[in-house]
Amino acid sequence: MSGGYKTEMQAADTVGKMWHPSLYIGSILESHEDRVSILPDRIKQSMPSPEPKPSEGGWLYRVLEPYYSRECVDNVMEAMMGGQISSGASWPRKLAAEVCELYKVPVALPTSSGASALHVALLACNLGPHDHVLVPALTMVAVANMVKMVGAKPVYCDSAKGSVNPGTADLLKKATPRTKAVIVCHTYGVACKDIAEIAALCKEKGWWLIEDICEAMGTRADTGELVGTFGDFAVTSLYANKPITAGDGGWVHAREKKHHDRLKSLINHGFDPAYHFLHFETAPNAKMNGLGAAFVCSQVKMLPLLMQHRGRVASWYREGLAGIDGLSCIEQRQVDAPWVFGVETRDRKTRDALRDHLAAQGVETRNYFYPLHLEPVNFYGDDAGVYDVELPNAEHLAQVGFYLPTHSFLERADTQFICSVIKSYYQPEAAVDEPPRQKGWADAERTKSLQQSSPAS
Ligand SMILES: Cc1ncc(COP(=O)(O)O)c(C=O)c1O
Repeated sequence: MSGGYKTEMQAADTVGKMWHPSLYIGSILESHEDRVSILPDRIKQSMPSPEPKPSEGGWLYRVLEPYYSRECVDNVMEAMMGGQISSGASWPRKLAAEVCELYKVPVALPTSSGASALHVALLACNLGPHDHVLVPALTMVAVANMVKMVGAKPVYCDSAKGSVNPGTADLLKKATPRTKAVIVCHTYGVACKDIAEIAALCKEKGWWLIEDICEAMGTRADTGELVGTFGDFAVTSLYANKPITAGDGGWVHAREKKHHDRLKSLINHGFDPAYHFLHFETAPNAKMNGLGAAFVCSQVKMLPLLMQHRGRVASWYREGLAGIDGLSCIEQRQVDAPWVFGVETRDRKTRDALRDHLAAQGVETRNYFYPLHLEPVNFYGDDAGVYDVELPNAEHLAQVGFYLPTHSFLERADTQFICSVIKSYYQPEAAVDEPPRQKGWADAERTKSLQQSSPAS
């Protein structure tokens, strides 16, 4: 426990400068109400409401569904039968080759997760105490966590007006003489509109640029290039809610060959290629195992087709939701194929009520991220007070935004049904379509596709 902060409950009007034992993670199980009640009013008023529950029998539409083919299963079997199960097996190398081919980069290394990929990319930038890393406020917590794990400080940037991502001006507003790196996230699979300009800015300033494409694998910038090809490094996640998946996993890739050996060492305990058991640096074990790599390997070549389908899902939703007063759809870029399809309501109360209304019809949804600068984790210990900032665009989106089911099993009739449920919230006299599916349908579709033999067998 750090000295200098009050040990008694503190009534703080604004964010920051508060400390209370109930905020410590060890207290999660004993006193979860206390942990919330001690938060500043600003957080209590804006924090997410409890999640809506499905009607009896579970969800008709999950927000995301893992999608994979029989070939993935057959490859895992082959890996097991051939003893090719570890990170040292042939499958991670095959996966790396597929990634290099898709992104036209010389270096790719499979990792155990998106977070671990980000960890090693940040280590490769040689960041440490006193270094600032510009990160979006509206993104997943792993981004801030990994910056902190390398001892640097995340500096949160607002979303640009009308965008889920920060633009160049939002980054410049937060830049300091200590800025050493920028992480661009392409949140929800919406390409950052300024990515080319941000890449040029980083070059001019000598800042590292890491593209976190965990939500934007296969996403294209307005110029048509794949995002993940602008930065020094790109990292992604292969968690089961992503368009292609290893269950858990990820990769880091680099635009320049010179980064290969360092990244290879950093994902593998700092092993030296020449002298086994002679370690020159401290590093995590961030490698992907052979079974995960075997599972995802054949999916990489399917990614462009899966993204085309995401584009169709987005166009169906845009068409079905057009003209609803008070509801807008997620930012639309030149290539419109977001990982998840977001909608934004007029206010927080409507957002929560509409999510409840969808849940009552079996439609699962998810809130937009709660902005990272407001996360309770920032309010204790030595960092208390340093995050006392206001980022109005990100904070507003977090209050009014949520996303709809967006995955590879969806067809037009599914989105039409979901849109009819949304319309019936705004126009109670409007009829809700008959659902085209029954509960458990996506599992049944998956089973059906896994019963077909893979192209190779
Ligand atoms: C932007 C972003 N970065 C990092 C991660 C972490 O990925 P993982 O869960 O594979 O560690 C995620 C997870 O979805 C993410 O959305």
